[in-house]
Amino acid sequence: MSYVLRTRHLTKRYGQKAIVQDLNMNVRAGDIYGFLGQNGAGKTTTLRMIMGLIRPTAGEIEWFGEGRAGERARAFERVGAIIEYPGFYLNLSAADNLEIHRRLMGMGNKEAIDDVLTTVGLIGAKRQKVKSYSLGMKQRLGIARALLHHPELLILDEPTNGLDPGGIKEIRQLFLRLAKQRGITFIISSHLLSEIEQLATRVGIIHQGKLLEEIDYEALQRKSRRYLEIKVDDERRAAYILEQQLNASDYVAAGPGVLHLYEHLDRAADVNYTLATHGIGVKGIALSGDKLEDYFLKMTGGDPLV
Ligand SMILES: Nc1ncnc2c1ncn2[C@@H]1O[C@H](COP(=O)(O)OP(=O)(O)OP(=O)(O)O)[C@@H](O)[C@H]1O
Ligand SMILES: [Mg+2]
Repeated sequence: MSYVLRTRHLTKRYGQKAIVQDLNMNVRAGDIYGFLGQNGAGKTTTLRMIMGLIRPTAGEIEWFGEGRAGERARAFERVGAIIEYPGFYLNLSAADNLEIHRRLMGMGNKEAIDDVLTTVGLIGAKRQKVKSYSLGMKQRLGIARALLHHPELLILDEPTNGLDPGGIKEIRQLFLRLAKQRGITFIISSHLLSEIEQLATRVGIIHQGKLLEEIDYEALQRKSRRYLEIKVDDERRAAYILEQQLNASDYVAAGPGVLHLYEHLDRAADVNYTLATHGIGVKGIALSGDKLEDYFLKMTGGDPLV
């Protein structure tokens, strides 16, 4: 497994208050890692520590599988980030803003500017002053700037904040394209489940400074799927009969005497009859399972994630 970023026991305290506590984040190459949490959960604080903008109170950050602290400067050459709002010289054009950044960072080729502006769909507006840009255009310009040095990892703190649904969709498509075509790994924070749901391949849920869970998206989807919970006296034989008689394959043994069947959801009576006629004692059958939202509610102890 190749990790792009891991944090170990990452902690930030302000005075007595632990804002981020003992956080172990594991981001693999190719992940679109959705860093999900409510307002005030500690997302920005975590990302600021990762980017070296504030010092952790405790804990370590491991880049690209390298444990040594001396690797940090080199690691940053492989990372692009926007933490909070990207600042620009409003009276200068987009192209000039990027040119200033390019020189400041000592980056070689000038052509890269047109390349990144094309990538984010702003090439036609490159001579326009940034003050005439919409919020969505500014966000895309921020992404262009973060892309200038061809990073392998992009870290974006709430990149779609304040955008309208059309703008959010455009940015989402841009991320998916960058992930697919260039293999860029993403860490994207958000307080919106709906946004992460449509983008992330892996989700880390932060709540009150603690990482509650890290989960691959398929597993998350599976957890949130609905199923028939079937209570029987012999789950192995019951499974065999479901396979043979109802052609079922999408089920799991959820415990002794319990099967979760993810198909035939509207055929509980048939399932019951089939099992019973094949000598299985059926103690109960009920439609069960969570919606993704309910799952998050449960994780965060009832606080809605919006
Ligand atoms: N410099 C600081 N001093 C004291 N408390 C701070 C400081 N910076 C952040 N906090 C507190 O830490 C908590 C987490 O803040 P943070 O900005 O990391 O949350 P967030 O998840 O990014 O929230 P949002 O979704 O609103 O951006 C908040 O309660 C905030 O008030
Ligand atoms: Mg924040």
